[in-house]
Amino acid sequence: MQAPELPPWWARTTVYQIYPRSFLDTNGDGIGDLPGIVRKLDWLRDLGVETLWICPFYGSPQQDLGYDVSDYDAVAPEYGTRDDVRRLLDEAHARGMRVVADMVLNHTSNEHPWFRESRSSRTNPKRNWYLWRPGRKPGGKAPPNNWRSLVGPRGWHWDERTQEWYWASFLPFQPDLDYRNPEVQEAMLGVVRRWFAFGFDGLRLDIFHAIFKDERFEDNPFSTRLLPSEDDPDGFLQSYRRTLHHPETIAFARTLRRVANEFQDPPRFLVGEVFGQPSALRRYCEGGDGLHSVFLFKAMRAPFTAAGFRDLVLEFEREMPAPLVPTWVFGNHDRSRRGERLGYHPEREKLSAAVQLTARGIPFVYYGEEIGMRDLDVPLATAKDPLARMYRFLPDIVARKLHAAGILLNRDACRTPMQWSSAPNAAFTDPGAAPWLPVHPAAETVNVEAEERDPASILHCYKRLLRLRKDRPALHAGALTLYPEHALPPEVLAYRRTFGDDVVDVLLHFDDATRRVRIPGDRCVALASTYPAPLPIREDEAVLRPYEALVLGR
Ligand code: NOJ
Repeated sequence: MQAPELPPWWARTTVYQIYPRSFLDTNGDGIGDLPGIVRKLDWLRDLGVETLWICPFYGSPQQDLGYDVSDYDAVAPEYGTRDDVRRLLDEAHARGMRVVADMVLNHTSNEHPWFRESRSSRTNPKRNWYLWRPGRKPGGKAPPNNWRSLVGPRGWHWDERTQEWYWASFLPFQPDLDYRNPEVQEAMLGVVRRWFAFGFDGLRLDIFHAIFKDERFEDNPFSTRLLPSEDDPDGFLQSYRRTLHHPETIAFARTLRRVANEFQDPPRFLVGEVFGQPSALRRYCEGGDGLHSVFLFKAMRAPFTAAGFRDLVLEFEREMPAPLVPTWVFGNHDRSRRGERLGYHPEREKLSAAVQLTARGIPFVYYGEEIGMRDLDVPLATAKDPLARMYRFLPDIVARKLHAAGILLNRDACRTPMQWSSAPNAAFTDPGAAPWLPVHPAAETVNVEAEERDPASILHCYKRLLRLRKDRPALHAGALTLYPEHALPPEVLAYRRTFGDDVVDVLLHFDDATRRVRIPGDRCVALASTYPAPLPIREDEAVLRPYEALVLGR
């Protein structure tokens, strides 16, 4: 059979997310930096990840740890210099890896010179770069409408000097730009072009679904939902219909794609942070002329059962059919770590990794996920995260209860320093330095050095599966077909991946028993397991150990 054409690099890749502040500190200030990432490039290549996504490193007052940009062309001094970015790109590219930058288009910092100008007077030429509105009621002291921000309280903020309100989708110090102003589009597309020209292979787009809001500023309708979730942004008793997923945002995805297409060799990649049901999110990618992909956060919430993941795979296949490409995300710098949800059970974490690396889609691995890092319990009062500080009036017990229910108010919990070894400060920074966030006490045993020595570790499981995925076109580029439920026990999910002549079957065992199963297809050589070595296959039967995933071929 003639081999089909391979899809573009981004559709086949594996992504590793780095929060630069927490990865490796090379100058002893307790804050991770870009030279730290460069120093670990060999380690990352040997781990087997192909693309790095670096959270924002731009000039910023760091009130939201870099998601509040005050200079898009500068590098925050604690992270390094533009030369360090140059070195990171050159060295990663020399190792055959790609690098994706994080781009915050929706808002700037309130310390950005554009906003300083904008708020200086109602007649300033930059006034209409942001969303300013008069208030209601005499004196304008009531906000223009009922819109809430993404984090709960209203998103309008009163400016005493100019006696108007400005809009911020996230926190008050992150005013939204007005993309209906062509000057704003031109300026921000210029930023995008400059970083592409500098050599970034792609961009992760921060809260992309918020870029355009209703131009008539009509109230948002009432909703019965109390809290938003990964797959439904409505909450705080409000439907976000007028503030999220505006048709002009979808159109703007196409504008961005045209800009990305100006750069080739390699083609550049755009992945959007958008919240909602996969059926709503596919609009950002449909037609092949919008974003290349979007995060599908729903996997974070799926019940950890064969049926739960079967439904999810079916839904992702239905809503993101090829050539669209789903994504597999189990954690990031805003959410509880995956292990927290799986009860810090290494076999369950490995099984989850197996789904992430063998189902059709782009896997996004959050730093530390590959060693089973844990959430840290940090009191709200001492939080570095501005979201936690906003909610610091809540007793910690409430924050803990919400955390247990999967709602993370204090994102410090999942941003603690990378655990490289059991040395002081987990070898993240100098032994005598004060890391910007405490090192998790579990670093004593949960660390890279210890897991490198243990073939049964989560780390080795990642290495095996990443290597296999890279070697087998069926895994990095193939179609996916689910085996029918009746062919398997209810605790087992199985699918086939096919690319031309390359065929691989995957069995995923969501149970802590050991069970004998009839192999559903005709593949009878075990290529890899989440355990260090697969058990021998006898005839057409395999023995699946607790939470084992088996990849079968010929
Ligand atoms: C989403 C980012 O992931 C989060 O960390 C940030 O605080 C908000 N967007 C605001 O930029």
